[in-house]
Amino acid sequence: MVHYVTAIVVMLMVLEVGGSSLLSQAAAPGTSGDGEPQPSNFTYTQLWADEKGETHVQQCKMTGFSLQNYSAYQQFIRDDFGGNATKFVFTELSVGLTQPLHSTPAVQFVITLSGSWYINTTDATYHAFQAGDVLFQDNTKDSPAAKVPQHFSGAVGDVPCQQFILQINRKPEVNNLCPF
Ligand SMILES: *[C@@H]1O[C@H](CO)[C@@H](O)[C@H](O)[C@H]1NC(C)=O
Ligand SMILES: *[C@@H]1O[C@H](CO)[C@@H](O)[C@H](O)[C@H]1NC(C)=O
Ligand SMILES: *[C@@H]1O[C@H](CO)[C@@H](O)[C@H](O)[C@H]1NC(C)=O
Ligand SMILES: *[C@@H]1O[C@H](CO)[C@@H](O)[C@H](O)[C@H]1NC(C)=O
Repeated sequence: MVHYVTAIVVMLMVLEVGGSSLLSQAAAPGTSGDGEPQPSNFTYTQLWADEKGETHVQQCKMTGFSLQNYSAYQQFIRDDFGGNATKFVFTELSVGLTQPLHSTPAVQFVITLSGSWYINTTDATYHAFQAGDVLFQDNTKDSPAAKVPQHFSGAVGDVPCQQFILQINRKPEVNNLCPF
């Protein structure tokens, strides 16, 4: 029993030392601006439009974070996306749902909660999303592209797909690969 307690205390001490050294490293002075530490692999997928209105898929790594006391201790925060949240939606795609060619109703993030779904862009790229994946898209009807940029989408697999959608009032753009 005593051994277990000792082991746990030692483990906690190691975690404490590891944690605070990481924290002080991350918060070290003189690392602002371009030298600011960033999450190593904060990924998102982008559905982007070119100037002709064709749509494409790009894998991106989010940067532009800063260390802030969000809840109590410091964590990486990025909260500027060139627009503010205007609406948020929880939705479920039924098994087998397929959408015809369409534009996105709003500039938005789509975060997959469970199940799977896909997009198929006009360059015939097929991309499927799993739980935890983040998509950013701005191929709205009022895109500055020469024609309305569109894509196909639908549910994948034999369970419904649940998503959280966050619409923002950012202006749609063309050729804006990995904006964040
Ligand atoms: C980065 O994240 C992506 C998406 O979650 C994952 O597929 C990939 O394996 C990760 N890469 C590293 C080096 O962790
Ligand atoms: C952020 O949290 C750290 C650790 O608790 C604290 O030392 C620091 O004063 C806080 N900074 C601000 C601006 O609240
Ligand atoms: C978003 O909200 C912030 C704070 O309320 C405001 O300063 C900013 O102008 C807004 N941006 C847009 C694009 O609405
Ligand atoms: C993607 O869409 C193209 C039409 O643009 C179609 O020919 C192709 O079969 C679709 N692929 C998939 C996997 O849905």
